[in-house]
Amino acid sequence: MSNFTLYIIFAFLAFNLTLGVGAENISPSPTFSPRVENKPRAFFVFGDSLVDNGNNNYLATTARADSPPYGIDYPGHRPTGRFSNGLNLPDAIGEHIGVGPILPFLDPALTGQNLLNGANFASAGIGILNDTGIQFVNIIRMPYQLDDFETYRQRLTDLIGTEKTKKLIDNALFLITCGGNDFVNYYFLIPNSLRSIQYKIPDYVPFIISEYKKILTRLYELGARKVLVTGTGPLGCVPAILAQHSKQGECVADLQQAAGLFNPQLINMVSSLNKKIGTNIFITVETNLINLNFITNPKAFGFKTSQEACCGQGPYNGLGLCTPLSNICQDRNAYVFWDAYHPSERANRLIAQEIFNGTKYMNPMNLSTLMVMDSNIV
Ligand SMILES: *[C@@H]1O[C@H](CO)[C@@H](O)[C@H](O)[C@H]1NC(C)=O
Ligand SMILES: *[C@@H]1O[C@H](CO)[C@@H](O)[C@H](O)[C@H]1NC(C)=O
Ligand SMILES: *[C@@H]1O[C@H](CO)[C@@H](O)[C@H](O)[C@H]1NC(C)=O
Repeated sequence: MSNFTLYIIFAFLAFNLTLGVGAENISPSPTFSPRVENKPRAFFVFGDSLVDNGNNNYLATTARADSPPYGIDYPGHRPTGRFSNGLNLPDAIGEHIGVGPILPFLDPALTGQNLLNGANFASAGIGILNDTGIQFVNIIRMPYQLDDFETYRQRLTDLIGTEKTKKLIDNALFLITCGGNDFVNYYFLIPNSLRSIQYKIPDYVPFIISEYKKILTRLYELGARKVLVTGTGPLGCVPAILAQHSKQGECVADLQQAAGLFNPQLINMVSSLNKKIGTNIFITVETNLINLNFITNPKAFGFKTSQEACCGQGPYNGLGLCTPLSNICQDRNAYVFWDAYHPSERANRLIAQEIFNGTKYMNPMNLSTLMVMDSNIV
């Protein structure tokens, strides 16, 4: 594991030296057109690389996706900072809620009318804990993402006034995705990390859940009223972990056990928070199980493989980073994983379908139901 940590750090350094570190400001200007299934509403996104749409482009960090072949299927075929060949999960959700593309909070174009669509505050590498992702140095940890939302709110108030701002935020959809890095980029990656000495996994999980509860509570206090909260994916099955620890392609037990403890406790915590507030503000998405379906039966979903990443090198294409020098698969739609950790656009679209119309993995209701209830009230 320690060799791998070093490998990652060196690979990142090498990568950035070759391609030039720094905030090359690549402003995404997506051209996909939202299919308006519901009245338009603003969209706010918080979390890690699964949902970052370019904030890290503006930071001096190694956790970035601003070089080819990232974005190869994105409108314009260029990297934007999304950790995907094309759309990421917020894009796949955003297409169906009637907002235009939302900008990263750090994008200078996030002013004027663009503010009305919402904003994305996510930053690759972060976790629930402040000490997760320390190797990525300058990233926007959760408390600061929430501070940035307050800054955004003030800018919006300056533009449209207090009343309209409240209404926009009341009606907005929120998405928060974090927790995976607290395991794969911290507890299990860094040998003898503070937390892994302090806690065994059965105690670490309730600890990070209690920290997550504070984050969600603050999000509520800041005005969020409809919030999708995703669980972690099947951490032990991602190509990066298979490449390092799997003997014959089986998912790795300790990480699967961690995800198996985290996700149900997340659902319980969220449901107790909803009870305390007195209404269903938070909706959990069991991304673990949605992804596990693709992983156990990829062919049923039209995928060729769920073990091998489309872009990477080494076993399962799961080692190091996805760079211009990596092996890149021919048919990107045939892969559940685009790189060693992140789903392909096609997998993201399937997850979004489940979020809107699924019956099994959404608690207490799916997004279509929420939106219908909502339009009856207004
Ligand atoms: C994380 O950092 C924020 C901001 O510095 C601080 O308010 C918070 O208490 C920290 N959380 C933990 C668990 O240390
Ligand atoms: C949800 O189902 C409706 C009705 O079948 C369909 O029009 C819509 O595209 C679906 N949404 C997603 C995100 O798949
Ligand atoms: C989810 O959405 C579908 C169609 O959009 C709806 O028929 C179904 O009842 C919903 N399921 C739940 C559990 O809300």
